[in-house]
Amino acid sequence: MHISVLLNESIESLNIKGNGKYIDATLGYAGHSSEILRRLEKEGFLFAFDQDEEAVKFSTEKLNKINSNFKIFHTNFKNMKEYIDEKVDGILFDLGVSSPQLDETERGFSYHNDAPLDMRMDKRQKLTAYDVVNNYNLEKLIKIFYEYGEEKYSRNIAREIIKNRPINTTLELAETIKSSVPEKYRNSAHPARKVFQAIRIEVNQELEILEQALLDAFSLLNSGGRISVITFHSLEDRIVKNVFKKLTEEDEVSKKLPTTKTNQKAKLITKKPIIPSEEELEKNRRSRSAKLRVIEKI
Ligand SMILES: C[S@@+](CC[C@H](N)C(=O)[O-])C[C@H]1O[C@@H](n2cnc3c(N)ncnc32)[C@H](O)[C@@H]1O
Repeated sequence: MHISVLLNESIESLNIKGNGKYIDATLGYAGHSSEILRRLEKEGFLFAFDQDEEAVKFSTEKLNKINSNFKIFHTNFKNMKEYIDEKVDGILFDLGVSSPQLDETERGFSYHNDAPLDMRMDKRQKLTAYDVVNNYNLEKLIKIFYEYGEEKYSRNIAREIIKNRPINTTLELAETIKSSVPEKYRNSAHPARKVFQAIRIEVNQELEILEQALLDAFSLLNSGGRISVITFHSLEDRIVKNVFKKLTEEDEVSKKLPTTKTNQKAKLITKKPIIPSEEELEKNRRSRSAKLRVIEKI
């Protein structure tokens, strides 16, 4: 079961107009998209993207029960500009993986269940977690674990992985990670958590595409239109924060001009990120690291 995170807050943040056009960049199981679609009138329209075939299938049926003012694209949101050739009034990104993706053992995202090392959100893609774990060299593994997992034992873990190759399944990998960190560390949070996150980010190129995707999305907005982004870890959040900062800052030249006109492109709606309420945190563990940031195009 998938429970949408920061559902009310993110939908409210989009200021939906009945006749507006909206994009859900990460359709998933259509929790957010359903709420958007319900608020649209005849002239309103929703475009949605997901690279996961199962999410697209499930959500097409689900949204069809509400109305038909939507179109779903089974592709990466990094291609958004190739698919949309009109301006829209709001765009939502709810980043990362969905709970059904995490829960389906055979997709290989979880270190609790045994499955082949896969972790692809888009099954049409070639690169899998198996390739990363078994073919990347030592330095590359260390870099990924360190940068995408902020894992302090990156070097030990990478060495141990290389020693134990081939590693075929998620539990083999989790065991290898466990055996390469000090006893004390083993008993804190699950020692495989950060490395699994890092491999998932590498397989799906989650961070590499984010900045450009946000800028592309911004270029599709009407004036007054908003982008709302929900992130689940600090690396993603930092990228969103920096892109929003760039878009909301005036440049030095325009600051000095004696005119009220500025070249500021956007205003920040959330000075601080919105985080889930106590109530939501209690209901949904996945929401515990979620943050919502919003900007509006000027
Ligand atoms: C957190 S879930 C979204 C949940 C959704 N908001 C809901 O309420 O059901 C993220 C979804 O975005 C998809 N996704 C993540 N990154 C993507 C990308 N770069 N392009 C397309 N889809 C992506 C995943 O496949 C997943 O289904």
